[in-house]
Amino acid sequence: MTIQIDLPETSTNKIIYSDECKDILNLSVAKIQEMFKSSGIILFRGFGITHELMQVFAEQFSSRLTRDDDKPLVEPNGFVSLVDIGMHEILPHRENGSSPFSPDAVWFCCTVPAAEGGETLFWDGIQVWQKLSEELRKLFISKKIKFVHKFPADKWKHFLGSDATISDAKRVLDGFNNVKYQIDQEESIYTEYICSAVLQTKYGNQNAFVNDIITGNSNLKGSVNLELESALTFEDGSLIPDAAIEEIEKVMYSLTQEIRWKPGDLVMIDNSRFLHGRRAFSDNRRRLFSLLSYLNF
Ligand SMILES: [Fe+2]
Repeated sequence: MTIQIDLPETSTNKIIYSDECKDILNLSVAKIQEMFKSSGIILFRGFGITHELMQVFAEQFSSRLTRDDDKPLVEPNGFVSLVDIGMHEILPHRENGSSPFSPDAVWFCCTVPAAEGGETLFWDGIQVWQKLSEELRKLFISKKIKFVHKFPADKWKHFLGSDATISDAKRVLDGFNNVKYQIDQEESIYTEYICSAVLQTKYGNQNAFVNDIITGNSNLKGSVNLELESALTFEDGSLIPDAAIEEIEKVMYSLTQEIRWKPGDLVMIDNSRFLHGRRAFSDNRRRLFSLLSYLNF
């Protein structure tokens, strides 16, 4: 089969369309890996992807699947989640970027697009970084950011597996040099996760502004609970200035790209390079599924 690649000059993303052969499992894994390394995002269109097929396809590229933190699973103890809870806008974020459990890749497939809205949005963190002012780049090179989180037992088991014990959790957390934690009597874990807002991309080691600053800032502002079960600051506890947030938003929203879903579409996103989000929608027939994984290449 031939692969038609649509590569608009202004866009870094690529689309693989099926032609006469509709079986996505016949595509060359090596070719897709190469393409993904350079583009960081690939949309597969016309292959009639279901959530089951998404998982089989993703397994070819993954050393380990993991699940979305707080979305309902399609099957108990599975990995694929349904992501249509709530129809609100979702701001740009790195998947699980406020914890040390961020996956390498985010996979989405759509069986029923919303009649209107519901587009998945994405931002190339390399472009965002290059477009930020010199002042802001210096700020985020010199200062790391800190996320404070409470993970109740049912939440951290999402990351570590439903059979994980508190000793397993301690062992995993002790393995991170950028995480401090405390455990309470109910086995909730309070973490302080310190990371840079600018990452080195998994492929190519380029600087990319990929983080949870926009969603973290929004959640914190909207919170009336000041017990700091969840917080975002610089490493030293100081707040990220509003002017910095405003500049980041302005730069990001000038670089927004979108996926206008068609039934059967699948997208594969490099979580070390791209942020993602979505537009609001009001169509309760929309069906979009997600899967997270660690890559094997
Ligand atoms: Fe997400």
